[in-house]
This record gives sequence, C-alpha cells and structure tokens, in this order.
Amino acid sequence: MLGIKDEYLQELMSKLSATGIFVVSGNNPANVMTSHWGAYGTFWGKPMFVLPVRQSRHSHGLIDAAHEFALSVARKDMSQAIHRCEHVSGRNLDKFAYCHLHPTPCRKINTSYVSDCGLHFECRVVFKTVMEGAQLFDLKIPDRYYKDKNYHTMFFAEILTAYED
Ligand SMILES: Cc1cc2nc3c(=O)[nH]c(=O)nc-3n(C[C@H](O)[C@H](O)[C@H](O)COP(=O)(O)O)c2cc1C
Repeated sequence: MLGIKDEYLQELMSKLSATGIFVVSGNNPANVMTSHWGAYGTFWGKPMFVLPVRQSRHSHGLIDAAHEFALSVARKDMSQAIHRCEHVSGRNLDKFAYCHLHPTPCRKINTSYVSDCGLHFECRVVFKTVMEGAQLFDLKIPDRYYKDKNYHTMFFAEILTAYED
C-alpha cells in the first residue's frame, strides 16, 4: 500500500488484535504503551494508521505535543513485557526500564522504537478527532467502554516508513 509493504501491514494488524503492539512517543525520555486497537487505510492519498488513545494516558499528552509516534510489533513472545507495560503509566516512571525494553532512536521522527521487537512503523499525525459521548450511536459502547467518560482521541497518522530491525 503506497510504499508500505503489504506483508508488514498484515503482520501489524494480526499482532494488534492477537497480542497487542507497543506504541512509543516522546523523547525525554521516550514512553511506551500497549495498544490492541487501530486501523490502517488510505486517507488524503497517504498510507495512514489510526490510533485510539484515551485522554488520561501519558502517551496522549506526548503524541499531542509532538504529533509523532512509533509502532513496534513483537516477533517473539513478549507477553510479559506487554503485560507489565499495559498496567502502569509512564507519567512518573521509566517504562522502558520497568518493562525491560530497549529504545533505539527512530530514523525519521524524534522518538524511539522498541528494538527488542523486530518490525517497526514510524508515524506522523496529520489529523485528530476527539470522541464525544453524544455521537456514540451504539448505546452499548458507552456502557461498556466509557462509563468514566475517558474517551479516546483518534490520531490519524501518516506511516512514513516501515522496516525490520
Ligand atoms: C487489552 C488492552 C488494550 C489496550 N489498548 C489501549 C488503547 O487502544 N488505547 C489506550 O489509550 N490504552 C490502551 N490500553 C491501556 C494502556 O496500554 C495502558 O493504560 C498504558 O499503561 C498507558 O500508558 P501511559 O499512561 O504511560 O501512556 C490497553 C490496555 C489493555 C489491557
């Protein structure tokens, strides 16, 4: 798709739903979170990834400030690191160290990728939209996911490059 190898995108989407992936943002220090949700497709003639991030996350502030993030897809069993990563916030903690993960500087954006993983995507946000409860037409969704009104922001990001490392 538009310069990004289909096999990489297929691996991204299958790991996203199966095990979750790592999302890295910021650089002083870089922070890492896990995500199980996302979508890719073509918008505005660009290959794009749509990342939903709840407004309470430390990563939300970092992505909102820098408009960049990296996705790292594990090619080996990293369930322990994923589990540790999804249960703490990096607001007051070096999550790379806490999860025994290793950051490597990205090639095109000013953050890092998780070098333990094997497959990486560098993304630049071009548009965001903040969810509002009043526009959720399937009424089971707010009951299940947004009782606390901690809505997602959908970050639409151009996939600048994808590579194995
Ligand atoms: C199954 C699962 C899926 C998750 N997916 C998302 C997601 O799509 N968006 C999100 O904001 N948080 C998601 N999280 C929660 C974050 O991974 C978690 O809160 C993380 O610690 C946030 O880190 P931060 O505060 O350092 O950014 C998920 C957690 C689990 C257990």
